[in-house]
Amino acid sequence: MKIPQLNLLAPALFAALLAGWPAQAQGADIAQADRTAKIIYIGTAHFGVTLQAGSDGRLYQVPSPRPLSVPAGGGKLDRETEFHPPFGDGFISEPAVQATHADGNNSTDLIFVTNQSTALDANITLTRIELKDRYYPFFVTLCLKAYHDQDVLEQWTEFHHDEDGAVTLFRFASSSSVIQSNEYWLTQLHGDWASEGNMEEDKLGMGMTILDSKIGVRAGRFRTPSFLLSVHNPAREESGEVYGGSLEWSGSFQFAFDVNWQGQLRVLCGINPFASQYPLARGQVLKTPAMLWTWSDAGKGQVSRNLHRWARLYGVRDAAQPRPIVLNNWEATGFNFTEPRIVSLFDGARELGADLFLLDDGWFANKYPRNNDGAGLGDWQVNTNKLPHGLSYLAGEAKQRGIRFGIWLEPEMVNPRSELYEQHPDWAMAEPHRAPEVSRNQLDLDLTRPEAREFAWKAIDNTLGSNPGISYLKWDANRYVTQPGSTYLKPGEQSRLLIDYNFALYDIMARMASNYPNVTAMLCSGGAGRADYGALKYFHTFWPSDNTDPLHRVFIQWGFSQFFPACALSDHVTKMGNRPFKFTLDVALSGTLGLDLDVAKMTAAERKATTAAIVLYKQSLRDIVSQGDLYRLDSPYDQPRSAISYVTPDRARAALFVYQIKDAADQPVMLRGLDPAAKYLLREVNLPDGAVSRLPADGKTLDGAALMRDGLAPICQKQFESAVLELTRQ
Ligand code: DGJ
Repeated sequence: MKIPQLNLLAPALFAALLAGWPAQAQGADIAQADRTAKIIYIGTAHFGVTLQAGSDGRLYQVPSPRPLSVPAGGGKLDRETEFHPPFGDGFISEPAVQATHADGNNSTDLIFVTNQSTALDANITLTRIELKDRYYPFFVTLCLKAYHDQDVLEQWTEFHHDEDGAVTLFRFASSSSVIQSNEYWLTQLHGDWASEGNMEEDKLGMGMTILDSKIGVRAGRFRTPSFLLSVHNPAREESGEVYGGSLEWSGSFQFAFDVNWQGQLRVLCGINPFASQYPLARGQVLKTPAMLWTWSDAGKGQVSRNLHRWARLYGVRDAAQPRPIVLNNWEATGFNFTEPRIVSLFDGARELGADLFLLDDGWFANKYPRNNDGAGLGDWQVNTNKLPHGLSYLAGEAKQRGIRFGIWLEPEMVNPRSELYEQHPDWAMAEPHRAPEVSRNQLDLDLTRPEAREFAWKAIDNTLGSNPGISYLKWDANRYVTQPGSTYLKPGEQSRLLIDYNFALYDIMARMASNYPNVTAMLCSGGAGRADYGALKYFHTFWPSDNTDPLHRVFIQWGFSQFFPACALSDHVTKMGNRPFKFTLDVALSGTLGLDLDVAKMTAAERKATTAAIVLYKQSLRDIVSQGDLYRLDSPYDQPRSAISYVTPDRARAALFVYQIKDAADQPVMLRGLDPAAKYLLREVNLPDGAVSRLPADGKTLDGAALMRDGLAPICQKQFESAVLELTRQ
């Protein structure tokens, strides 16, 4: 590490406040402000941010220690490096804050008032920086949480005012950082249904580049709210300066990258202001979602490891708990099942060694039965034709076979063909004088309406509460918003719907997690429509895609691994793509293993292989994969194979996964992250029944240093060959 502190102005966080306090500042808070020179630095082990107040009273980001255009230590500062610039006071680039005040004045002029840092524990420090309009009682609090050991900074903004009437917020960024370099390379994860997590890297040109989602719900239909930003060069895996960013928000988001005439890059991150101007009543607080930033000068590999370590401690629910092996019926049956058929699938799940059977869509609604996606959403009573004995009976049958039972719900949605819609058509989002625009034959409930919000919560609470045998929930959300209108909100409040929807959603998710702490939860939204740290704190895993063809999953899992740890990705073995079964198993083994199979349709060899893979996973792979550090060794984007490894934090054990995606000559895989001074016993695992490893290294003990320097040949040459190796320190 070259610079153990921040060069970034980058993810800006921290603060240095300087002296020279603004004589023209008005208001009691400002008059009492500490005017002595001081510097506030907010930093983690390897990165941070320095801020200072200029002689004009504004708060600036100081691009230390790199030689930049801004002189550190006060004096006249460049407005382009203002930390959280508003619109209307002379700042001419894209602002972080834009408001119309209660008297109609649409300019804002923010000056620094005070700051406070509090150590929340040995690892986390929270800094709150108060800004105030120079004239109006309009307050912006910049909140920065530094996670020292994980090199992660989390930033959000709180708005409130004491003006005589509502203030309307037009821009309300969570973070607004400035980075200085000669080149900027941006990687996004764009997506569509069954095609999530696609990595694309582009060089930023002059002016604005926007990555966003505008659709309120199921944001991943556009892209995942995360990015990598490499400076100087395209991002490399294990070298070079790279920033990682991820917004903790499931709704519309915007990342705006603005390269100015000086070559400085401002990165504005937060809720998308599109169709979302926010009326703020006197005394009300708008707390924006937190933006996560990390940085490394050791490439995007370390950026991912930072985020994964943070996520396992703070970002994903119960990340230390082993995830159950789920067998889901969606690909085996779709909507077409009966009670005996489901019970027969339990036997298969038990035979294979799964821990839990997950009953997917199609189990509910009677007047408009849920036999396809055209009816029934909202009528959360068990369908008595399909399942005459109810859910608790099924849970009991599962228990008798030694497995747990889980259920699918889509609590935010309604089909127009449903009793719910017949009784409460006004609970669905809609625009007056417009025909309701359905997607997958359904509409979004308006969660700002208290009755609809309570209804969505009761869909969960009644299902779980009255069937205590259910210990797993798959929460789906299959459409986005195209008509963000509410019959509950007043005409002047309509534009807050997309924002308040997501706050209401988190309220329900939080109730789910706190009321049902023992129910494992999977986040799904028509595939990975929701893959974000806003929701993941309430969920154990997310569903990366309905595309379970392992060839595509290699890429999808590679993409999501940039930001999310393997313990958060549900990776199921299915028959999609009809790939060689070992390849299918090996791909799923590198994440949170699950199954979506009809056991009766499997060959004896496939059953045996699956059972053995589950035993292997539970005995030795699961803890390495879910708690280890990820090293991405060969990228499927530019090599004929993908290779990844996980190494336990103490470097005592590792697992290597190699997937050949095109025919090519065998090449050694260079391992990383091992203890160079240690010796490791290598063992190829997940071999087909009776097969003997062809790897010369199998069963040998090799030096960590040699494995990282010379690599090891996985003997994979033909498309769909694959290998899994365990390394154990001797
Ligand atoms: C979309 C999900 O991604 C699928 O796994 C499945 O649950 C269907 N919805 C059910 O409608």
